[in-house]
Amino acid sequence: MEHSNKRSNFSGKLGYVFAAAGSAVGLGNIWRFPYLAAKYGGGIFLLTYILLAVTFGFALFLSETAVGRMTGKSSIGAFRALGAKKLMAGGWLCTIIPMLILPYYSVIGGWVCKYLFEYIKGNRQAMATDTYFTGFLGETMSPLFWFLLFAVITFAIVIMGVEKGVERVSKFLMPVLILIAVALSVYGVTRPGAMEGVKYYLIPDFSKFSIMTVVAAMGQMFYSLSIAMGILITYGSYMKKDIDMESAIGQIEIMDSGIAFLAGMMIIPAVFAFAGGGEPNVNAGPSLMFVTMPKVFDSMPMGGVVGAGFFLLVLFAALTSAISLFETCVSVFLDQMKWSRTKSCLAVGAIVVILGVVNALGFSVWSGVHPLGMSDILTFFDFLTNSLMMPVSAIMISLLVIKVAGFDRIIAEVKETSAFKREKAYVFCTKYLVIPGLLIILISSILSGFNIITL
Ligand code: PHE
Repeated sequence: MEHSNKRSNFSGKLGYVFAAAGSAVGLGNIWRFPYLAAKYGGGIFLLTYILLAVTFGFALFLSETAVGRMTGKSSIGAFRALGAKKLMAGGWLCTIIPMLILPYYSVIGGWVCKYLFEYIKGNRQAMATDTYFTGFLGETMSPLFWFLLFAVITFAIVIMGVEKGVERVSKFLMPVLILIAVALSVYGVTRPGAMEGVKYYLIPDFSKFSIMTVVAAMGQMFYSLSIAMGILITYGSYMKKDIDMESAIGQIEIMDSGIAFLAGMMIIPAVFAFAGGGEPNVNAGPSLMFVTMPKVFDSMPMGGVVGAGFFLLVLFAALTSAISLFETCVSVFLDQMKWSRTKSCLAVGAIVVILGVVNALGFSVWSGVHPLGMSDILTFFDFLTNSLMMPVSAIMISLLVIKVAGFDRIIAEVKETSAFKREKAYVFCTKYLVIPGLLIILISSILSGFNIITL
């Protein structure tokens, strides 16, 4: 199809797999997965999650990637090339979502840089106090500085291009990330008292299983695989026509679930062994990473080194995800406006700085602002994109496949390079399961966002 000569590409399968896995493995794997698993029944949550990832997750991942490779375009261009007149809103949604996520993701990336810096400086005791995190957030200038640093690093990588920037950095960061995750979880699991936590994490507790387990696992899986944000369409459009798409997606799923699993192994047993008496601590939710973990590192032998290693791991995970968001936004300007890479990067950079500053100041100067009654501006953007816009855009992508492109064309695209062993499962999931599943997520997240139910 219309592959323009200038369009950059991944050099081969490995480059694609590491870049897409880099996008998938992010903050969601490291802090969100472990606490959700702990809350929703341990082993039973893991099992549910894996089953959903190889069915639903696979189906949506493949739909997006095939649409991207088939059209050679990022989201708006891809929807247009397929003639999706009534569904064009889906292309726009996929474009807006990453532009709204990237700024706040970079603010959190900035917090991670700050924590890493403090651990390297040897400040582990100060970090372990209850008020350290909120004190830092309330400071105004310091969070802005760390946010800008993170944003500049992301910018510098993306401006180098797909092969020289995104791919080269992911190929280095992802293997290092896997090594750190393995090392930290082995260290965590072998601490005295950690076995209780391992049992809590892995042994299925059927009394905690409910329909909410499935809903929570499904929501986590979409977020974790970076589905429905235009990222996979864009990365698919950079995929050469000789890469085995089916096996590449399988490998990405294994890496993403594997890192999430290891994150649980390094966090939950350590919290049991060091933060005293498990359950309430593990359920600390989002503050687990910035409040509970520093306490764990403070009371653990070699905690300073382990803390630095942990935040380095989180930084790499956040950075590769931010790169994928940045690249996706840039690709829209490249395709739609026909701007140069430098100009497109500057435009995206400007959006990130403006919205990022708004998000960061939401904890200090604008801490009195509560959009839709949410606790802060960042939480609002997170809710808007992940809970509302993302399920809608995923529904539109599925409709694009079912109603506009048609299964025949998608299947033909996959079969150009893959045996497509999961063809029947793919068609079945996309046709009958994905849309109802997404509607359930959408409704339950609206209800829980407005505190009508608790997820
Ligand atoms: N998939 C990432 C994670 O698990 C989250 C992410 C969201 C990445 C949006 C890119 C874009 O943390």
